Amino acid sequence: MYGFHYYTPTKVVFGKDTETQAPALIREFGGKKALIHYGGGSVVRSGLLKRVTDSLDEAGIPYVTLGGAVPNPRLGLVYEGIALCKRENVDFLLAVGGGSAIDSAKAIGYGAVDEGDVWDFYDYKRKPKGCLPLGVILTISATGSEMSDSSVITKEEGLVKRGCNSDYCRPKFAILNPELTMTLPDYQTACGCTDIMMHTMERYFTNGGNMEITDSIAEGLLRTVMKNADLLAKDPQNYDARAEVMWAGSLSHNGLTGCGSDGGDWMVHKLEHELSGLYDVAHGAGLAAIWGSWARYVYKDCLPRFRRFAVNVIGLNPVGTDEEIALRGIEATEAFFRRIHMPTSLRELGVSATEEDLIAMAHKCAVGVNGAKGSAKLLKEADMLAIFKASL
Ligand code: NZQ
Ligand code: ZN
Repeated sequence: MYGFHYYTPTKVVFGKDTETQAPALIREFGGKKALIHYGGGSVVRSGLLKRVTDSLDEAGIPYVTLGGAVPNPRLGLVYEGIALCKRENVDFLLAVGGGSAIDSAKAIGYGAVDEGDVWDFYDYKRKPKGCLPLGVILTISATGSEMSDSSVITKEEGLVKRGCNSDYCRPKFAILNPELTMTLPDYQTACGCTDIMMHTMERYFTNGGNMEITDSIAEGLLRTVMKNADLLAKDPQNYDARAEVMWAGSLSHNGLTGCGSDGGDWMVHKLEHELSGLYDVAHGAGLAAIWGSWARYVYKDCLPRFRRFAVNVIGLNPVGTDEEIALRGIEATEAFFRRIHMPTSLRELGVSATEEDLIAMAHKCAVGVNGAKGSAKLLKEADMLAIFKASL
């Protein structure tokens, strides 16, 4: 077991109608003028944005708005948001939406308190030294960005998708009303469930340390998400299932399921960020498309964890060799993805990549991880290419 820091400063307000508490929470965290940042329009169509602006008007909190954060949010809008914050003396950010709006808001927050180019933080040239305080009203359970220290932005030039991690961007509060996720298309619900699972699985499939309590939390979380993802595929308006998935999403990426390990593997995410950077696919679907190929490539180097996953998460009877059990666990996980209509290959994801594309993605991925990464198995550029090829 390794030592760890566990830092989750986000105040979580969970339940029906909790978005009405946004003005009081902004005040509680010192906000005097807010930027409300949102995505492509779902919050306009659902009426949520209007309810939020009405409540700020009523509370006498001035604000400006900026919509347009697209899935795989772009740097151009971040620059626009930074200029707006500086011009309007904004001192608080309210992200209303999913991971894309939240990540874009985090990047705006970094840039608003800095004089240089915010991309430097995503290009690993400089480390952030601060961020405007940020609150979240979440509309999709997926990334865990509502509690995480992470923000992922795509630079239009070269379609480079990179993450920046720091405690400065952890939201001050997260309003989690499961009802707000009921307008999601089924595909996005399933993408979200996949992403939630992966945030725990990336931490679980490791050769570096383990901790019984962390493993038990991780396994319970994964079983819960799989059960409720199945339920939501049949009954999308099931409040309790939405609530289970929503809380799992936050816990999956706030550090809890990594306490005591070496930090995890994270290569499925790194490979997927190349896919969604280049082809603009949904992050969760990209993860599902690549996971099976990654798992088959690495499982022999991480056999005890793959066996444990098959038995404790999937619920397989542990008969046969460890290798057989591990492989059956991988097959069952892919069957689950297919059941919730997630792709298990690039073809099913709708991506027809050329050999040159695969080579370019493997190269960019290797550069992004400084040559090699992975705890289940350390992967270099040639391994990354082999996994991309196996996932066609
Ligand atoms: O843009 P709008 O119109 O709001 O539509 C969104 C978008 O099309 C829609 N949507 C969201 N809530 C809805 C809704 N539609 C109807 N009703 C609702 N209640 O769903 C689509 C996806 O939204 P998005 O915010 O892009 O999804 P997600 O939360 O999955 O975020 C994905 C981004 O987060 C990054 C991903 O790489 C990707 O760029 N990640 C961020 C992480 C973090 N910050 O910790 C970790 C993750 O691993 C991930 O990399
Ligand atoms: Zn993710």
